Amino acid sequence: MTPEPSDGDLRQATCAVVLAAGLGTRMKSALPKVLHPLCGLPMIAYPLRALTEAGIPSIFVVHNPALVSLREHLGQNVVLVPQSPPLGTAHAVQQAQPYAQGFAEVMVLNGDTPLIQPETIRALVQARRAADAAVALLTMTPANPQGLGRIVRSEDGARVRAIVEEVDCTPEQRRIREVNAGAYCFDGTWVWSALARVQPNPRKGEYFLTDLVALANAEGRAVVAVTVPEEEGLGINTRAELARAEAVLRQRINTQHMLNGVTIVDPATTYIEATVQIAQDTVIFPNTFLRGNTVIGEGCEIGPNSMLVDAQIGRRVRITYSVIEHSRLDDDADAGPFAHIRGGAHIGPRVHIGNFAEVKNSVLGAETKMGHFSYVGDATIGAGVNIGAGTITCNYDGERKHPTHIGDGAFIGSDTMLVAPVRIGEGAKTGAGAVVTKDVPPHTLAVGVPARPIRRLRPNED
Ligand code: UD1
Ligand code: CA
Repeated sequence: MTPEPSDGDLRQATCAVVLAAGLGTRMKSALPKVLHPLCGLPMIAYPLRALTEAGIPSIFVVHNPALVSLREHLGQNVVLVPQSPPLGTAHAVQQAQPYAQGFAEVMVLNGDTPLIQPETIRALVQARRAADAAVALLTMTPANPQGLGRIVRSEDGARVRAIVEEVDCTPEQRRIREVNAGAYCFDGTWVWSALARVQPNPRKGEYFLTDLVALANAEGRAVVAVTVPEEEGLGINTRAELARAEAVLRQRINTQHMLNGVTIVDPATTYIEATVQIAQDTVIFPNTFLRGNTVIGEGCEIGPNSMLVDAQIGRRVRITYSVIEHSRLDDDADAGPFAHIRGGAHIGPRVHIGNFAEVKNSVLGAETKMGHFSYVGDATIGAGVNIGAGTITCNYDGERKHPTHIGDGAFIGSDTMLVAPVRIGEGAKTGAGAVVTKDVPPHTLAVGVPARPIRRLRPNED
């Protein structure tokens, strides 16, 4: 039994080449295949993350410089290697030779195989070392092996003799259900000379990486396989496979949150992106989308039917049937049903935002209430303010946006129009239907169209 490779071992001995230069024609997309998003991250992020978590920091990504650049989607520590034109998977690995030569072993992962786990990468390394094999490769037995490279084994099944691409299969080989999952660990002293001997495939004209398996056998070198369930080896060539992979990832993400103490009432209709953080004892109700850099504190109730994008949510916050985008809600705030909070809004602690409310780029101070049918945009609102039903900040004059300021404890009567720029003083009040075009001094009642101050409020009246 070879011991599990230690972190130090992998770090120095093993590098990885990730193949991402293919055209991805079967996606029928202007976007390169490996940039299609899966649970909020581009597909290519997943194999890179699995390699990093497996303890392999030296990663070379083979890309096609003629396509949209991968650089902005990858960390700075990833080396991009150009392959142009893409002449097949063997040719792709060869492009990385100047970088990857000298490592004792070379992992190769298809960039379109996002479900592979770090433990599996380590198992491939271990299997190769244990047998001193030229290649350890990943296989699976999917329900439908169509389009994939078939694994031809020795009589006793112990050795892998060849990988035969479907185009080259005999009818008998086509019936083999075990296939190549597109992840390999190669002997680093052997792989470069072997790649130089690969001949173009007579039918497709491409250099197939999979031909290295027959080459190793011909040279008397061992080839071993590690087998995973279909849902880890799934490769993405079409958008139907993209959706299948997303379903698997979604389930993994949801399960992880549940194990961390989050209640998910209906995981099948809960869509949480890989980047989201949720603290314990929060409950997520059905049909809820949590996206981007959303962070949710303890004891919240989110959903049903809500979408949060880049939202910062405090503790014990309740959000129902609402959309929160690029905004923050502090402890014990609540929103909805049917609220839309967006554009950098900051909702203070214990604020109540009720039905059909929209808040954009505004600050609402602690315990302010905005219960019904209102729009607040570009406003700074103090603590303990009451925003009456139907209130609107008229912040846009057709050309420019203007700010509204409302002081602590103000009372904005139902259907008030606040024509910005405008200031409502601390403790001031507006009458129902007021159209406020001029600043209202503190502790003053203003009414009418256009609104005019009619009297100072008595203490305790505001
Ligand atoms: C490949 C394997 C097949 C395996 C399947 C698993 C080969 C010849 N076949 O088939 O045995 O069952 O993966 O999913 O390897 N790429 C490049 N440059 C190229 C061509 C491809 O970087 O010139 C990249 C692609 O972007 C992709 C990966 O290599 O990420 C695999 O290429 P793809 O064309 O998808 O191969 P499959 O037909 O899926
Ligand atoms: Ca593929």
